[in-house]
Amino acid sequence: MIVMKIFITRKLPEQALELLKKEHELEINPHDRVLTKDEIIKGVKGKDGLLCLLSDTIDKDIIFSEPKLRMIANYAVGFNNIDIKAATEKDIPVSNTPGVLTDSTAEMAWALLFSAARQIVKGDKFTRDGKFKGWAPMLMLGQDISNKTLGIIGTGRIGTAFAMKSKGFNMKILYVNTKPNKILEKELGAQKVELEELLRKSDFVSIHVPLSPSTRHLIGEKQLKTMKETAILINTSRGPVVDEKALVRALKEKWIFSAGLDVYEHEPMINNELLKLDNVVIQPHSASATFETRTKMAIMAAENMLEGLKGNIPPNCVNKEVFTSH
Ligand code: GLV
Ligand code: GLV
Repeated sequence: MIVMKIFITRKLPEQALELLKKEHELEINPHDRVLTKDEIIKGVKGKDGLLCLLSDTIDKDIIFSEPKLRMIANYAVGFNNIDIKAATEKDIPVSNTPGVLTDSTAEMAWALLFSAARQIVKGDKFTRDGKFKGWAPMLMLGQDISNKTLGIIGTGRIGTAFAMKSKGFNMKILYVNTKPNKILEKELGAQKVELEELLRKSDFVSIHVPLSPSTRHLIGEKQLKTMKETAILINTSRGPVVDEKALVRALKEKWIFSAGLDVYEHEPMINNELLKLDNVVIQPHSASATFETRTKMAIMAAENMLEGLKGNIPPNCVNKEVFTSH
């Protein structure tokens, strides 16, 4: 066994570190914060593997900074934070963590939908602030969820799981996706439509597309104005899929009823106006944050790392062309 060196940009669940430590030498970011680009370049120096987070921007400079670097494992399903083209050019496989976080993320989308529809956060604050003076006919009115129309943008694993969880609520399902989704059509009678129709007809719209040039600002002013005044927008995918400034206006001027967000356009910064609004529920990019899922993600990232360092195709490789092009 050849012992190699791995740089890990943040402390991960112990089980994954144990797996890696059995075979290789680890260097782990000693700080409890995101590293700067220079710190990552310094960390990667002399390393064979890089295990990184979605909050680390792994660009060309980092990828080409260490000639030995031969494997990058991302601790996330989304991998828009990594310059895949540069990694492929340098014959470095990159892996992600699909599947293990599907239900947790879909559950967070539902948590946000319920919170936004029934004003859970606002009601909690109101009650704590001592403002509850007794039952009142018009206090904290929200939106029913049962028997409504649910619009899903992107029906990959997460979008599909999110839709399937609507089974108890007797909802009509509309979806936008490049390909038809046979499972949703068969199980839920879901209907594939154009984005405009989905926005116009849905009571709740949940976004589940990866971030790419074609999905950046997929939801902007025009799309928000197409939605119902009673509608709710949920985003657990990537912030830049929504034009955050337009969303602030939509919420302020009540083009829609409310929103539930786990992701932001310029993380970790959040539009200051958004923070002042009480018709939006906001979470700190924590859709996959359960004890079970974060451990599974870490083990998956570690297993990918171990395979990649052996020169094998990591099980969750996102740029398999590294192994086929020559
Ligand atoms: C979380 O956002 C992930 O991509 O895993
Ligand atoms: C991709 O992010 C998925 O839906 O699993």
